[in-house]
Amino acid sequence: MITTENMIEIRKTTKSRLSEVDFEHLEFGKIFSDHMFVAEYREGQWRDAVIRPYGPLSFTPAISALHYGQAIFEGLKAYKNERNEVFVFRPEKNAARLNHSAERLCMPDFPEDLFVDAVAQLVKLDNEWIPQKEGESLYIRPHMFATDESVGVRPSEKYLFVIFTCPVGKYYANEIKVRVETHYTRAARGGTGSAKAAGNYATSLLPTRKAQKDGFNQLLWTDALTHEYFEESGTMNVIFLSENKVITPEVSGSILDGITRDSVLTIARDWGYEVEERPVSVKEIVDRLKKNTLDAAFGVGTAATIAPINTIQHNGTNYQLKSYHSNDFAQKIAVYLDRLKRGLEKDQHGWIKRVM
Ligand code: COI
Repeated sequence: MITTENMIEIRKTTKSRLSEVDFEHLEFGKIFSDHMFVAEYREGQWRDAVIRPYGPLSFTPAISALHYGQAIFEGLKAYKNERNEVFVFRPEKNAARLNHSAERLCMPDFPEDLFVDAVAQLVKLDNEWIPQKEGESLYIRPHMFATDESVGVRPSEKYLFVIFTCPVGKYYANEIKVRVETHYTRAARGGTGSAKAAGNYATSLLPTRKAQKDGFNQLLWTDALTHEYFEESGTMNVIFLSENKVITPEVSGSILDGITRDSVLTIARDWGYEVEERPVSVKEIVDRLKKNTLDAAFGVGTAATIAPINTIQHNGTNYQLKSYHSNDFAQKIAVYLDRLKRGLEKDQHGWIKRVM
């Protein structure tokens, strides 16, 4: 079993692509740094951990991930401050969540210390790829997929675990418009909604595209059974602020246990806000919108960071939210989290891991 850092072989590229990158126009998830981490699972063990030049992997069309969907992923970010210090935010939470996803999809655990170590070594090696402007970071994408060359529905015996990184700017450049989805379903209790399974995103594509054609950025998913309770938004969890209370759907088994969600709720409690994690009905939020007591709604996620919502559509009616001004909770928390992730605030919860 590979569990220590000296078991990651490092094969450096001989030709960096860094000078080809236009850092002034970073499109999210389109540019890939020089190296990637790869490990292979076979005969019951993770083996051959290596950091090597980013590039194609070789497999046949028969690998089971392509047919039966054993594919999971994570997302985290590395930040570089003006002193050129580099930090990764709560990587051990991603490592644990990957294994939660792996269990649900009948995939092997990946050693959590190796996950954190691989992220750290990869980020350190490609640290020159970390953009430093406000809102920018190095997005890190660990993922695992089944590689058995076999037709037949059963858990694969072979897997690849890969991490690549991308210099990124903001996922949503502006405030967003969302539509409450009451026809399609993202996930049901007992399903894979709490796993970061590739298939969850596949099922969201058609309903999201329909909403995007109507001018919305995202959906607010509702529960599969009644469509009366909020779940999450496609790329992030959702948080509401009303009458000084921070309100969010509880982690019920059908939504992702977001790391940004947890961080925001913890900070809100630290700042003295009352935080309610509970079933949140669409009716309650629409009533608050009608009474003008909904002070803010925003998405929270690694890629999206804090994404303020300015419009919520429900049953064809558009409700406008108050504007996102500098005194807003969402704005304050976005600035605080960004500074914390760059090592510029006191890290009272031990969330940041210094890479260099
Ligand atoms: C993330 O926030 O890291 C995600 O994986 C969301 C994805 C849709 C970009």
